[in-house]
This record gives sequence, C-alpha cells and structure tokens, in this order.
Amino acid sequence: MLASSRKTRNRKICSRKRRVIDYLRISITDRCNFRCLYCMPPEGIGFKAHEEILSYEEIDRFAKVAAWLGISRVRVTGGEPLVRRGCPELMKRLAMIPGIKDLSLTTNGALLEGYADELKKAGVSRVNISLDSLQAGRFSQITRGASLAPVLAGLEKTLQLGFSPVKVNAVMTEGIEQELHDFVALAQEWPVHVRFIEFMPIGNRIRGIRKFIPREKILDRLHGFGNLRPVGSPPGGGPARYFRYAGAQGTIGFISSVSDHFCHDCNRLRLTADGKLRNCLFSSAEVDVRPYINRDPGELAGVIIDSMNSKKFDRRQEKPASERLMSQIGG
Ligand code: 5AD
Ligand code: SF4
Repeated sequence: MLASSRKTRNRKICSRKRRVIDYLRISITDRCNFRCLYCMPPEGIGFKAHEEILSYEEIDRFAKVAAWLGISRVRVTGGEPLVRRGCPELMKRLAMIPGIKDLSLTTNGALLEGYADELKKAGVSRVNISLDSLQAGRFSQITRGASLAPVLAGLEKTLQLGFSPVKVNAVMTEGIEQELHDFVALAQEWPVHVRFIEFMPIGNRIRGIRKFIPREKILDRLHGFGNLRPVGSPPGGGPARYFRYAGAQGTIGFISSVSDHFCHDCNRLRLTADGKLRNCLFSSAEVDVRPYINRDPGELAGVIIDSMNSKKFDRRQEKPASERLMSQIGG
C-alpha cells in the first residue's frame, strides 16, 4: 500500500509555495541532567512517566512512515537524549530506515564522551552540542550547577572520531559579550561551527532570562576580531547564517528566530517525546499521533500530511503561545 501511492504523497507535501518538508526532529525524552536558566525552572518540571513516552519501537514506526512521505533528515533531541537508556540503539534503527539520509543528534554534551563511539558506529553523522559558555563558572551558573569539563571532553571526542560537521550552539545570554574571544578561537582553531542563538520566549513559566541580546550587537563585536566574511552553510545548515574568519577551520553562525523571520522556508516537523506532532515551535497546535502509530500506517500518513499541509508560511503576527517548555518540545 505504502509504495503504490508514494509519488502522490510526495507531491502533496511540497505544499502551496513548493516548500519541501523533509526534516523531522524527534524528542526522545523531556528529562535533562541540566537545568538551564532559560529552559527549565530551578525545581525542574513534572517529567513524564515512562508509559507516557513513546517507546523506541513506536518512534521507529513513526519515522518509517515519515521517511516514506519524504522526510530524509532526522535529528534526535530531548530534553537531553543521552539520558534515555539505549539512545544509540534507537539511532541504529533510525539509520537503517530507507530514505533517511542524514541522522543527527542534539546534546548538551555531558555524557557525550562515553557515547560518541557507539553513536558513530550506529550511523550518526553529525552532532550539535549546546554549549552556552566556555568559562567553567559562567557555564555552571547558566546550567544551574553542571560542569564544563565533560562537555569539552565530549566535543573533543567527536572531533577525534570525525563527526562532521560538529556544531556548537550558544544561546546568547547576558555576559556572552565577554566570551566572544574564546568562541572565536574555537572556530578558528578547530573545524567547529559555533552558532549564536537568539533566546526565544518559549514556555510561559521561564523567568531565567532578563535581557534579550540581538544578533547585530554580537556581530558588530565579532567584526572587531578580524576579517569576517559571509559564507554558505555547512551540511544541515537550516535557518542559520554563517560567517568565516580568513584562515579559520570552522565558522560562526547565527540562528536569529527573533530578528529574522524564516517561517517561509522552515522545512521541519517535530515529534515530542509523548507522541505529539507539531509543525511550528511558535504554535501550541499539536496532534496526538500515538493512537495512529499503533494502528494502520496509512492513517498515520494521512495525519502527518495534514500537519505538513497546515504548516503556516508566516507567523509574524502571532505571539509565541506555547504552554510547553523547549525541553518538552525538543528545541
Ligand atoms: N531559546 C533559544 N534556544 C533555546 N534552547 C533551549 N531553550 C531555548 C530558548 N528558549 C536551545 C538549547 C539547545 C537547543 C536544543 O535549543 O540551548 O542548544
Ligand atoms: Fe537541558 Fe538543553 Fe534545557 Fe539546558 S537547554 S536544561 S541542556 S534541555
């Protein structure tokens, strides 16, 4: 059944203005071993019980149908994906799905050194490490108590093992201006793509961020460190804009979902750990796909197509309306 109508389905999902939706982010847990100021309240959140979270079997089934519909790139996220037992095993299953050409992981890096080898063998080609500070004190303050050293060890290990590209995501929080020199050095000396991310006001309960730092402010300062030229994006570039210093191994990028509006070419869907399908980070609309995962794949395909087709092209007029936190959606 699936094979016979694939062509029609694919045509459908290149919705009205021919935006191809080929990218799926799968959150496999809402749990995390950090408590970043901008992401979680200090007491943590009411984490979901094990039964509420999709099993790896269910995630695999969902991804197979999504791949049949034209999803070719999958990123696994959390919370922190590596705190869920057996994550590399899931990655192996996802890597084997026909049609999935690019499999990546977003992690806070705390457990990465120990898992990097297994992830590489499982078929993960790329990793994004969330690393908001390169100074132990500030890092610990932002994460409410985590240590920087294991994250740096994880980063180094991924470089040794040849993951490519390796991206570092730094949310621009107060004090980052004092660290720009270190981030620049990282992107100059190593093949690392450092991306500065504008804080997004997702989740109504977050009070940890007092000051929004726009891209332009950081970019101005970065020009002071040398000749910074715009360049094309490394594989899996997404909505980031990239720059490179002459002679540098890596690049500097910006993900500016507040300053820029890139809704028109957003190509992604999100599956939350508890089985809700979302087509936009800035909307609370979600569909519970778990019942469909456990029934007929054709029905599930229909629900995914509806979500793809109802993805808006411009949400500029809308306020971020999510009741969920970023860790519950999957970033
Ligand atoms: N705004 C911007 N980035 C965020 N992240 C988590 N919450 C927010 C937010 N409110 C980042 C994490 C990680 C990625 C998955 O999302 O730091 O890099
Ligand atoms: Fe965990 Fe990432 Fe949220 Fe920090 S931002 S608490 S690492 S999920």
